[in-house]
Amino acid sequence: MKVPSSSVQLLVLFVLASSALTAPQGCSHKIKEQIEPPKGWVKVAPAPADHIINLRIALPQPEFASLEKALYEVSDPDHARYGQHLSKEEVEELVAPHPESLNAVDDWLASHGISQGDLSRSPAKDWVKVRVPVSLAEEMLNTTYYVWRHIESGDAVVRTTSYGLPEHVHPHVDLVQPTTLFSTFQGMKTTYRWSANRQQSVDSGVASIRSASGTVVDSSCNSTITITCLKELYNATGYNSSATNGNTIGITGYLEQYANYMDLQDFYAQQRPDAVNSTFNLITINGGQNNQTLSAAGVEADLDVEFAYGLTYPTNRTFFSTGGSPPYIPDMNTPTDTNEPYTQWLDYILASPNPPQTISTSYGDDEQTVPESYALRACADFAQLGARGVSLMFSSGDGGVGDGDPDPTTQTCYTNDGRNVTRFIPGFPASCPYVTAVGGTTYVPEVAVSFSGGGFSNYFGRPRYQTEAVTKYLASLAPGTYEGLYNPFGRGIPDVSTQADYFQIWSQGRSGHVGGTSASSPTFTGFVSLLNDALISAGRPPLGFLNPFLYGRGVAGLTDITSGNNPGCGTEGFNASSHHLHDINYVNTDAVTGLGTPNFGLLKDIVLS
Ligand SMILES: *[C@@H]1O[C@H](CO)[C@@H](O)[C@H](O)[C@H]1NC(C)=O
Ligand SMILES: *[C@@H]1O[C@H](CO)[C@@H](O)[C@H](O)[C@H]1NC(C)=O
Ligand SMILES: *[C@@H]1O[C@H](CO)[C@@H](O)[C@H](O)[C@H]1NC(C)=O
Ligand SMILES: *[C@@H]1O[C@H](CO)[C@@H](O)[C@H](O)[C@H]1NC(C)=O
Ligand SMILES: *[C@@H]1O[C@H](CO)[C@@H](O)[C@H](O)[C@H]1NC(C)=O
Ligand SMILES: *[C@@H]1O[C@H](CO)[C@@H](O)[C@H](O)[C@H]1NC(C)=O
Ligand SMILES: *[C@@H]1O[C@H](CO)[C@@H](O)[C@H](O)[C@H]1NC(C)=O
Ligand SMILES: *[C@@H]1O[C@H](CO)[C@@H](O)[C@H](O)[C@H]1NC(C)=O
Ligand SMILES: *[C@@H]1O[C@H](CO)[C@@H](O)[C@H](O)[C@H]1NC(C)=O
Repeated sequence: MKVPSSSVQLLVLFVLASSALTAPQGCSHKIKEQIEPPKGWVKVAPAPADHIINLRIALPQPEFASLEKALYEVSDPDHARYGQHLSKEEVEELVAPHPESLNAVDDWLASHGISQGDLSRSPAKDWVKVRVPVSLAEEMLNTTYYVWRHIESGDAVVRTTSYGLPEHVHPHVDLVQPTTLFSTFQGMKTTYRWSANRQQSVDSGVASIRSASGTVVDSSCNSTITITCLKELYNATGYNSSATNGNTIGITGYLEQYANYMDLQDFYAQQRPDAVNSTFNLITINGGQNNQTLSAAGVEADLDVEFAYGLTYPTNRTFFSTGGSPPYIPDMNTPTDTNEPYTQWLDYILASPNPPQTISTSYGDDEQTVPESYALRACADFAQLGARGVSLMFSSGDGGVGDGDPDPTTQTCYTNDGRNVTRFIPGFPASCPYVTAVGGTTYVPEVAVSFSGGGFSNYFGRPRYQTEAVTKYLASLAPGTYEGLYNPFGRGIPDVSTQADYFQIWSQGRSGHVGGTSASSPTFTGFVSLLNDALISAGRPPLGFLNPFLYGRGVAGLTDITSGNNPGCGTEGFNASSHHLHDINYVNTDAVTGLGTPNFGLLKDIVLS
């Protein structure tokens, strides 16, 4: 939604004037959320009173347990409801707030002079949004906003470390943002290699190599990953998808990452000649741009679209360019403040009647930099998409068990909860149990790639679909391994993996190599989209939320990765599951590569059987 600046001004004046008339009296606030001053940020100055904040208020979803139950039933191949995904309206009914909550929040807002006409709401009415100046937000939330600066990037935001609500409003609000959200949302791509080719090993004078699953790949795939390599390695050579059966693959883009048309054509000419001259649907959200100047091309966006669309051509394909309003620039009186951009994307996609069946996101945060209340709510929003039959993939992160600091001697991994103890750093949204987290491998035969983000959530408990596999994995560790460094009851990350390094892409007019779990998420997503293609062409529903399938029947179509580890935080990280546990009836997972890498041919036979 784009509001012309003139009407923004009018709204501000109106709210200011009316709040002066109806200032609330004697309502007693109670602290709703309080955090420690975040690591890596400094408090600069009080926020200007007239700075505008897009306040978002989340109302509780009292029926969420029913939504979750429905999500698991429609996603479980052994359940009678499998594949009977919910409609948009059915989902909205299950996340609607109680009328009492709507009234309590409306009354509270009205007591500050905010009327119905000032608000916008999500279709289910579980989010309320209103633009207010800092002065009014401070009054509503009994807090003081400051300008905070991120030391490393220099970015500034207007935030607070604590806010309150009138006591009687507490049970009717889950969270209010932007308040305590200090995350540094970033692309999860770490390694550019613009020209250096990986050395082929001396003994690889052979033309082809056999992978762990038994597929035969060209020996060049050990050092350079192309579309042909991935199709060979993951047993999808010769599969043709449909352009017109209604199946769509979606790629999200944030942070001014633009997918460049010319780079895509160069990539197609090199790796997917039959796709030359084809393009993709572009959807811009929240002021997202599509700057096609070659030097504005984003490596992340180019990588994601080239591999996802290259693997699935001619499947219908969509790129979402979501604007995250620019960071607050204190000296320039930036008029509005930013929210997490994936909230803006969620607003769009939850309201859309026909979202793509398969969507990849290669962006994320350290879990601990996202307030727990916010992570829980964003995750619950992802559950809505799963219930509607959408498969969501996220990169598991590029820091191994740590925070991605490439220098092992300075990797700290301190908690930012005030205790300042050493702890592994899982990533979010990968840690959300309602999405599929994709880690990374390298070489053929495959081993875990060392940066593959893995570990255990500190916010989300272990979902039932993982109980058996993860419990067995933890039992296979030596007693006391990493005690206190991770949450042994948490959701395990990742779920699956694919190749993640030495991807040959085109960006800004040049060909080069890129690595990161940024590469593995669109790759896994490509194969899921091909599975959905097969299902939809057969008149069957798409896969939807994948994990109950993957940890059950699907495991027979995955190749377990059994060596490698993911160092971080001054440790060697976790090991990929070891050979002696390998057994056909055993769901072998690990906190580096998850269940393993896809075998498309086998997975297709399983889903169609
Ligand atoms: C607002 O918060 C301050 C502490 O920050 C507290 O002293 C005061 O009582 C609160 N006001 C209300 C109305 O609750
Ligand atoms: C793949 O490359 C790695 C690293 O150069 C090497 O150790 C390995 O032997 C190669 N594998 C094959 C099958 O050539
Ligand atoms: C896929 O299309 C190619 C080119 O049209 C064709 O040669 C091949 O046989 C098709 N594969 C299948 C499995 O139909
Ligand atoms: C392709 O995707 C776009 C955007 O998601 C959608 O509007 C369009 O209807 C789709 N086309 C087909 C043929 O499925
Ligand atoms: C792509 O489009 C250009 C310009 O229209 C045309 O010259 C070229 O032949 C096309 N290439 C293919 C492979 O269709
Ligand atoms: C597009 O990107 C180029 C290069 O970064 C920049 O110079 C130009 O101003 C951008 N155009 C727009 C409309 O933002
Ligand atoms: C956390 O502990 C480390 C090591 O003991 C120390 O260097 C660092 O300054 C501490 N950080 C904070 C915020 O207390
Ligand atoms: C990983 O495997 C190595 C070699 O077997 C072993 O020494 C190490 O203890 C293992 N680490 C973990 C965390 O299990
Ligand atoms: C590849 O998939 C086909 C089924 O489509 C299967 O028959 C074949 O065994 C698979 N190859 C390997 C090496 O797993």
